[in-house]
Amino acid sequence: MAAVTRGCRPWGSLLGLLGLVSAAAAAWDLASLRCSLGAFCECDFRPDLQGLECDLAQHLAGQHLAKALVVKALKAFVWNPAPTKPLVLSLHGWTGTGKSYVSSLLAHYLFQGGLHSPRVHHFSPVIHFPQPSHIKRYKKDLKSWVQGNLTACGRSLFLFDEMDRMPPGLMEVLQPFLGSSWVVYGTNYRKAIFIFISNTGGEQINEVALEAWRSRRDREEILLQELEPVITRAVLDNPLHGFSRSGIMEEHLLDAVVPFLPLQRHHVRHCVLNEMAQLGLEPRDEVVQAVLDSTTFFPEDEQLFSSNGCKTVASRIAFFL
Ligand SMILES: *[C@@H]1O[C@H](CO)[C@@H](O)[C@H](O)[C@H]1NC(C)=O
Repeated sequence: MAAVTRGCRPWGSLLGLLGLVSAAAAAWDLASLRCSLGAFCECDFRPDLQGLECDLAQHLAGQHLAKALVVKALKAFVWNPAPTKPLVLSLHGWTGTGKSYVSSLLAHYLFQGGLHSPRVHHFSPVIHFPQPSHIKRYKKDLKSWVQGNLTACGRSLFLFDEMDRMPPGLMEVLQPFLGSSWVVYGTNYRKAIFIFISNTGGEQINEVALEAWRSRRDREEILLQELEPVITRAVLDNPLHGFSRSGIMEEHLLDAVVPFLPLQRHHVRHCVLNEMAQLGLEPRDEVVQAVLDSTTFFPEDEQLFSSNGCKTVASRIAFFL
C-alpha cells in the first residue's frame, strides 16, 4: 500500500486555527510539547497513538481484531515509563491483508522519520540473511546489532519480515532479548518493540473466517480466542518458521498474536478508494469496478475472499486509469 496520509492529526488543526507559527515550527512545538508532557521522547521516539488509532480506523480494511489488539498493546506499553518486558507482536495472515501496512503505520506514529528513523530496524531474510550456510555469521551479526542498537537507545523497533523464510536457528539469538531479565549496563532493554510478520496461520485464519461466513455469523463476531490457538498450532507445526526451536513460543515471550482476516469484496473496494484518495484522485466507479473485476476470489464456489488481499490494488489502479 502507498505512503501514509496525515489526515489524522488532532492537534494540527487547532494550532493552525490559532495561527501560531508556520507548519514546520508547529510540528516542532507539538513534538516538544508532547515530550515534556509525556517524558518518553527518548531518541526518535515520538508516539502519537491517537493518530495511529485514527489512521487505522480510516485505512485498515476489515481487521477488527488486529486494530483493537495493536492499539491496546501499544497503549499499555507506550504509556508505561518502565515496562517489565519489551513489546513483542507476531502478525499473521494471508497475503495482502495489511500486516506490512500496520507495521509501517506503527513506525510512522511511534518514531520521527517513520521507517527511515535510525531507531527502526527492518530485517528481511532475502535481503539480510540470504545464505543459510552463513548462519553462524548472521547469528553473530544479528545479536550484536540488536545489542548495539539497544545500548544506543532502548526505544528501538525491530521488524522481522517473512518469518517463515528465516534461516533455521537464527531467531534463537533474539530469545534472551524478548524476556524480562535482559538489563545490561543500566540500559533498559525492556523498552524495545519487536514485530514479527509471516503468512503462517493464514490458511487456518481463512478457514475460521469461511466457517463463520457459512454459519451466517458476523465477521466482527470472530474472537481472538478462536484464532489464537490455531495460529499458535500452525507456527509450532511449521519447522520453517523462525520461531521453530527458538524457545520464543515455549517461553511465552509473545505479548500478542495478531490475526489478519482474509478480505472480502467490499474491503478491496475500500482499499481502492483509499488508494485513489492517496493519489489525489476523485473516486471513479468504473476504475473501482475494473479493479474489482480483475481481482480473483476464493474458494471456488463462494468467491468470497480476495486471493491476494489488497496487495496489487495500487498497480492495478494505475493500469485502469
Ligand atoms: C544497528 O543495526 C543496524 C542494522 O539495522 C546495523 O547495521 C548497525 O551496525 C547497528 N548498530 C550498532 C551500534 O550495533
